[in-house]
Amino acid sequence: MQRRISLIPQPQHLADAGGELDLSSLGAIVAADPEATGLAWLLSDLLARGTGLRLDVRPAFDGPAVRLRLEGPRPADLTREAEAYRLRVDDGGVDLAAAHPAGIARGIATLRQLLPADALRAAPAAEPVVPRVAIDDAPRLRWRGVHVDVARHFQPKEFVLAMIERAWIHRLNVVHLHLTDDQGWRIEVPSRPRLAEVASWRPETVIGHARDEAGADGTPHGGYYTLADLREIVAYGRERHIMVVPEINLPGHARAILAAYPELGTGHGKGVATTFGVFEEVLEPTEASLQFARDVLDTVAEVFDAPFIHIGGDEVPTAQWESSPVAAELMEREGIAEVRGVQAWFTRAFAEHVTSLGRGVIGWDEILDGGAPAEAVVAVWRNEAYVKKAVDAGHRVIVSPETYVYFDHYESDGPDEPLRIHGLTPTAKVAAWEPVPPGVDPAAVLGVQCQLWSEYMPSARDVEYGAFPRLAVLADVAWAAPEAREAAPVLE
Ligand code: ACM
Repeated sequence: MQRRISLIPQPQHLADAGGELDLSSLGAIVAADPEATGLAWLLSDLLARGTGLRLDVRPAFDGPAVRLRLEGPRPADLTREAEAYRLRVDDGGVDLAAAHPAGIARGIATLRQLLPADALRAAPAAEPVVPRVAIDDAPRLRWRGVHVDVARHFQPKEFVLAMIERAWIHRLNVVHLHLTDDQGWRIEVPSRPRLAEVASWRPETVIGHARDEAGADGTPHGGYYTLADLREIVAYGRERHIMVVPEINLPGHARAILAAYPELGTGHGKGVATTFGVFEEVLEPTEASLQFARDVLDTVAEVFDAPFIHIGGDEVPTAQWESSPVAAELMEREGIAEVRGVQAWFTRAFAEHVTSLGRGVIGWDEILDGGAPAEAVVAVWRNEAYVKKAVDAGHRVIVSPETYVYFDHYESDGPDEPLRIHGLTPTAKVAAWEPVPPGVDPAAVLGVQCQLWSEYMPSARDVEYGAFPRLAVLADVAWAAPEAREAAPVLE
């Protein structure tokens, strides 16, 4: 019987040569190019931890080895070519070649999946053997992300590192950190100390679903990442060629900001939110608000090295601006006809500052409503109609619609599922999803991303339960050829 080699995501081309290679017969991990040395040591460490086999890393070695080779012209970052790799496992050893170190990182992820599953354990529990195979692989989509909401429920730094590791092994390439929201602010900003002191904590949290109004738990909840924590997170991602994309959500979802700096709003702030939903409080459209944003974005750009900064922009109610003399004066001065245009005024100012910092800007699809600069990347979440709308307006798009890839939705309609926000998104629905809607130029679709909103997923364990196995299936949607996905059996 032919053996089954299980990889997720499925590679583009896999030929099973039969038999196995025992890695303990190899003499070293060879990284001739210094750009592959860090990855070689990561692989050495992983093998040692999970199998007990310690292979030294050398720039050259005569004899059977794991060889990590960078070859050919260097492709640009965030292209399909940058993540392509060629993996050969035969009696001569393991040969992993790519044109970009990101491709080596993806190939190592595949090699890890070829090892026995127990090699993923934290102490030696598996033999260091892999099947003899020939794999030629490249991702279907350039942006393959997972979003983690550490604002609604804070998670320790170690959890974020673990999510980067999980993204890596599934050949994703983006971890999006949702760092700010009504219920908490999670990034230290030295020029704005009250964000850490005040905005990072709420006095309590609603019990059960917010709609049930069942009272609150009386337990303070909070925390934030120091700049040193964030530098560690970014470096951990960089080592694995996982981009850590920060989101600072403005000008709505502002309850925590306004608890710390009430003068940036109408003065009717109610403190850091203790329940969930969409709140009226927004930043007032003033120079002081723009300066606040610039100060925060300056710190973000200092700490994060991703080519993009996400400025949020979702769910921004206009009620406060409708009755605000400050907003009325701005609209008069700038010739803004409709109050929704106030958000567009903010978006333009944020985008201008992010651009001045040498980064690209991303916003949720509401930034389209009042018009956004064409260079802004639009993260579509409401429904797929916005993909076409954004592409028609000249934007590049990250496709992440609520109906398919919000993994805070129910995973099944069984009676034993934990409380969820709403929705029903079983694994099979994710597997059947085609992310590029008909009539949309695929070149404008950067890729896809799943979201792990954490209103109702308070612990790391809750988030993990929501994430898996759907995240693995999303990785397959993002990486594999659609024909391969159709041919594969689907988990029910
Ligand atoms: C969102 O789900 N409000 C982006």
